[in-house]
Amino acid sequence: MIAGCRSFCCIFISAMVAGLIFFLTCFASPSIAAEGPALVPQPVEVKIESGEFTIGPATKVLYTKGDARLADAADYLAGRLSLAFGEKVAAGPSDAADAADAVPGAILMTTTGADPGLGEEGYTLVVRKNGVVIRAAKAAGAFYGGITLLQLAPPEAFRAPAIVEGKLGGRQTVATPRPADKPNVSKALPVEKLVVPCATIRDKPRFAWRGLLIDPARHFWTIDELKQYVDYLAIHKLNILQIHFTDNSNWTVEVRRYPNLTPEKALNAADPRREKNQTYYDLARHYYTQDELKSLVVFARKRFVTIVPEIEMPGHAGGLLRGCPECGCTVDLTGPDRGEICPGREETYEILRNILEEMLEIFPSQYIHIGADECTKKNWEKCAACRKRMKDEGLENVTGLHGYFVRRMADYLDKKGRTLVGWNEILESGTKPGAIGMCYRVNRKARRQIEMAAAHGQRLVMTPPAHCYFDYWQSPKTEDEPESFPDHRMVTLRQAYELQPLPDYVKRIDPNLVLGVQGTQWCEFMKSFPHVLYQTYPRACAMSEVAWSAEPAEGRDYAEFFHRLQTHLKRLDAAGINYRKPTEIDRPKK
Ligand code: ACM
Ligand code: ZN
Repeated sequence: MIAGCRSFCCIFISAMVAGLIFFLTCFASPSIAAEGPALVPQPVEVKIESGEFTIGPATKVLYTKGDARLADAADYLAGRLSLAFGEKVAAGPSDAADAADAVPGAILMTTTGADPGLGEEGYTLVVRKNGVVIRAAKAAGAFYGGITLLQLAPPEAFRAPAIVEGKLGGRQTVATPRPADKPNVSKALPVEKLVVPCATIRDKPRFAWRGLLIDPARHFWTIDELKQYVDYLAIHKLNILQIHFTDNSNWTVEVRRYPNLTPEKALNAADPRREKNQTYYDLARHYYTQDELKSLVVFARKRFVTIVPEIEMPGHAGGLLRGCPECGCTVDLTGPDRGEICPGREETYEILRNILEEMLEIFPSQYIHIGADECTKKNWEKCAACRKRMKDEGLENVTGLHGYFVRRMADYLDKKGRTLVGWNEILESGTKPGAIGMCYRVNRKARRQIEMAAAHGQRLVMTPPAHCYFDYWQSPKTEDEPESFPDHRMVTLRQAYELQPLPDYVKRIDPNLVLGVQGTQWCEFMKSFPHVLYQTYPRACAMSEVAWSAEPAEGRDYAEFFHRLQTHLKRLDAAGINYRKPTEIDRPKK
């Protein structure tokens, strides 16, 4: 008893000491005032100067003529300030249509005098005692200047009442919530003013594609949850949300021409067709109406986020086959769960064109993702229609047939003025150079394919699982973590941060071929929306810096990022964003 008590005391004291050391390492660094604000992602150039500007509820957010979308950037900034103050902050056009200087006491967004060298998303932010000016060639830059201004202020600048509290989307998500399932409801109270230091900041992103993926096909998230997800991307200067709308498990987009794709009741837990690990909530429907999706597109556009729909084909298409069985092969050797459609039959192409026609109507994105990954292609070897297609088109094998299918979809999208995106497999089977390859495989074989595609001018987005798969575990202490990907595959915060998105073997050919990076939040194991956020953050904070800021060789540094992150996490708290609190294992090594 006594021995047990003593060992308990020892453990307790050791834990306290370890906690204290961790606390000191994280938090007892020089004050922010002494070393500058903790901005995430780190801008290109930050000069903090003497003096302050005080933002209050009466501060106006003004914009000049120029880019019509400056109004969106100004509205968003005024909206966030309104939440921080608990009263409305006004945004509106400046009387001086072409203001070249600060408007006393106001925050001005303007294209006048913007530095063209900062590109379409760059900006300069100048804070003086008498006002703030954000100059940008395009509205997107002004929007990001506004985010940086908010980050110069105390964390309460990101205060946001939770859109949904406790019961997300109006529903209880898991019967026995674990800590990761509980929302991080903001406790921040409205403030009377926000004081920001005088500063001159010049900034632009390293990459144009700064994305995250979410997967409502595996666990369905409501449209409000998707909007929250978009809002959280925007405050990290991320600009693409790829939505994995369809898979073997479900088809989540209303297609008016094919209502059978979206039955009112989704598969229930006892249905043998359901995917492993899939939980279906007791919702009236498990799909988004076209009107809901259009409202999501508008919501995202106001935050300078593009929704890239991913409609999976020819594999991961069980949801499609349930609604449109005429897309299937003449044989089915691999069972319904494999869900591969028939690239031999002409009806398949007709149905897919009809579906995509409706998708293009909803999603104005330049990029349309068709998946194209992980096909066994076994049915195709036996299917009469596939075999005939291979013979007619002179295709050597089923990999050639996959390439033929992808090229036809790329041709269709090309004609509509859009660009096809597909996973690595489109590089393997041979596609058009205009299409974009999203690289989740970077093993030796895949590297050869990526290198060959790059040699042909193919553009790429990098999402290597070892750094970007946020369904992987965040810590080797799995007993402290909610269920994540099998085999304990792991992406620690440090690993997320240490991604080198531009492989040398592509850089040698043309560094501009890598459009950017994407974090991938598959949802097979995410049973609640707070858990999705817990998996996403703070790894997405690290990834935002990979996507926006300099290479490590040019000064990006994990220890320094980790230090800034401590302040940034207070912003996530104020915004009500759930995240995993860093622990010992995340602490930078000396
Ligand atoms: C993938 O992980 N199959 C894209
Ligand atoms: Zn077939």
